[in-house]
Amino acid sequence: MSIVVKDLNYVYNPKSPFETRALHNVNLTIEDGEFVAIVGHTGSGKSTFVQHLNALIRVQSGSLVVNGINLHDKKCDLKKVRSLVGMVFQYPENQLFADTVAQDVEFGPKNMGMSQEEIDVCVKNAVELVGLDWETVKNKSPFELSGGEKRRVALAGVLAMQPKVLVLDEPTAGLDPVGKHEILTLVKKLNEEQGVTVIMVSHDMNEVYENARRIIVMKDGAVVYDTTPEDLFALEDEIVKMNLEVPYMAQFCNYLRKHHVKLPKGVRTVDEVLKAVNALKGGSNV
Ligand SMILES: Nc1ncnc2c1ncn2[C@@H]1O[C@H](COP(=O)(O)OP(=O)(O)OP(=O)(O)O)[C@@H](O)[C@H]1O
Ligand SMILES: [Mg+2]
Repeated sequence: MSIVVKDLNYVYNPKSPFETRALHNVNLTIEDGEFVAIVGHTGSGKSTFVQHLNALIRVQSGSLVVNGINLHDKKCDLKKVRSLVGMVFQYPENQLFADTVAQDVEFGPKNMGMSQEEIDVCVKNAVELVGLDWETVKNKSPFELSGGEKRRVALAGVLAMQPKVLVLDEPTAGLDPVGKHEILTLVKKLNEEQGVTVIMVSHDMNEVYENARRIIVMKDGAVVYDTTPEDLFALEDEIVKMNLEVPYMAQFCNYLRKHHVKLPKGVRTVDEVLKAVNALKGGSNV
């Protein structure tokens, strides 16, 4: 199921003194199974864009078609769109509300009109998928859990609806390194093993570099780059000018390439770089 965006524009508070143009002629297509990161300085339109994808923000001008559903159409099937595209907001744990974890996670599937039998299976699976023990947490109040666990419960609430596309707006913000790693590992697993399309907004260029296979850079509401992590971060000067960081591993790979080390395309992690350098040395370990 593809997402096709054509000439998408968005203005907050149009025709008022507070008018703000947040999106400017956005054009892109996201195919099934992609892992796309959206980056850009604060206020560049990332959240405004991703909130269009499950119709939280309605299309003002231009077109947006999700799995054949035209979101510009006022009468489009919103329930269907929201079951296809799961949205995890920044600090999703702030939206937990129910008395127990089980009740919180089943809220979405209940709204989708699943039978109680289906709901029970989806809810338990989703809680286990995010790495929590169902028997231990099902009757606990979500408010008794740690910050990282709360975020996982919130994520389970979205996964219980079995979305084909998972949109995450800064999913690791405020987590410690272990919490970050757990969330990213889970998201990567969903993408690689279950084919879930992932669209992740992030300010952390290191996590983006290692996980996404395509990066979209937004600036002042427009898409200014749409390319692979390697090609994007090879443009060190442009990245810095946009107030973005060049990931450590990208800096290292750029340095090696500048010094005539012929790294193959696509190497990004420490392990991949070590393997590539060893191969160039004829197999002896670095
Ligand atoms: N509810 C709103 N009302 C009015 N203007 C808004 C609203 N939300 C965002 N904006 C404005 O729209 C523009 C884009 O904001 P958006 O939140 O999409 O940026 P962002 O890239 O997600 O930023 P950040 O990295 O800080 O989350 C900014 O100029 C912002 O001030
Ligand atoms: Mg934002």
